[in-house]
Amino acid sequence: MTTKLMKLISLLAALALLASACGSSDDASSSGDTDTAGGSDEGAESSGDGASVEVFSWWTGGGEAAGLDAMIAVFAEADPGITFENSAVAGGAGTNARAVLASRLQANDPPDSWQGHAGQELIGTYVAADQIEPLNFLYDEQGWLDVMPETLIPLISADGNIYSVPVNIHRANVMWSNPTVLADAGVEMPTTLDEFIAAMETLKAGGMDAPLAMGEQWTTLHLMETIMLSSMGADNWNGLWDGSVAWDSAEVTKALEDFNTVLGYTNADSAALSWQDAGQLVLDGNAAFNIMGDWQEGFFREVGAEPGVDYAWSATPGTEGTFQFLSDSFVLAKNAPNRDAAIAWLTVAGSSAGQDAFNPVKGSIPARNDADRSLYGEYLLSAMDDWASNTVVGSLTHGVVANDSWKSEIDSAVGLFLIDHDVATLQSALVAAEAANS
Ligand code: GAL
Repeated sequence: MTTKLMKLISLLAALALLASACGSSDDASSSGDTDTAGGSDEGAESSGDGASVEVFSWWTGGGEAAGLDAMIAVFAEADPGITFENSAVAGGAGTNARAVLASRLQANDPPDSWQGHAGQELIGTYVAADQIEPLNFLYDEQGWLDVMPETLIPLISADGNIYSVPVNIHRANVMWSNPTVLADAGVEMPTTLDEFIAAMETLKAGGMDAPLAMGEQWTTLHLMETIMLSSMGADNWNGLWDGSVAWDSAEVTKALEDFNTVLGYTNADSAALSWQDAGQLVLDGNAAFNIMGDWQEGFFREVGAEPGVDYAWSATPGTEGTFQFLSDSFVLAKNAPNRDAAIAWLTVAGSSAGQDAFNPVKGSIPARNDADRSLYGEYLLSAMDDWASNTVVGSLTHGVVANDSWKSEIDSAVGLFLIDHDVATLQSALVAAEAANS
């Protein structure tokens, strides 16, 4: 077995423990941290007037920018002497931003701090390329090991070093729906794949051509991973990444066939739509469903939609009880041009004040386990409860289970599949992608 595979196995073993670890939200009582802006006044190395920090992300609109702005406001209060340079590059899931970042890193021109996903994206990409600094000193200083879920730490660590500051936990396997459309069609929220297909058949028969709203290609990959999870179950999904389930197995064939069936109910213009556009189709009643991470709720709230009235939610059909997670985290660049100011930013990003300002707007729950629940809406409270009690598995599209190289081979195969819909060809490409990356 390769070292990479062994690392994956230990990551997945850590994931398996996540649910129980997150359940103990009363860990918060052992926190040595304060409730201020992360004690940035005590944590940050002083960065005097005139200092600035360049922070790179892909949060430019649709609920995401508003979340970032809320955290920037906490930072401005904690560190008024530091100018925040927001270098966000538009494009959902970082498709554009990550290309820009890669060329900057290649040119040895790193932003001080950037957004990276916990898991293989972080460890198998930035740590592997020696592009970021360990942050153990900040964890010690801020007491973060007492307030971050114990089992998230291995997903941001390598060789005893901790490499990022997680700001949130997002859920990937969420299905958003339009309650009025469903009621008018006499359709219940489906809880299994079969019910899901039956519901979409009913909606189609009633004249809705594309009951499932989808956007550009990364949202197809996102749809694929949640349908595979539904079709195969959590253990098999995990097995794909630790090598214990073969990519050429019958379970994968069935999962890809299910994915293909579901794709048959999506809109023909998906490639031209962002994830927010796909969400808007649901709000407007032009589609009944959208499968998207819970940043979609950040967008829904930003446009004034009312939970339970304008939109409803459930786990992707067939995945109830499983929480497919991802975590946005911020890193410290090696040779950061403004290292002290970057540490001040990271201090706020890891603080309860920073996380409780950011997450209710962003549509995610804090990575820290001492959230002030009174600040969160109905959906996010349910996500907190599910995170604490469900089986937790990782997301592919958002960096947890595969590094960039593996994910990009899978993504290319999905791009071709969108053209030919040939399950056997897709499955062979996925087998080859694993072989090339493990
Ligand atoms: C994810 C990211 C989320 C959200 C989403 C859509 O990769 O983790 O925070 O930004 O993309 O852009």
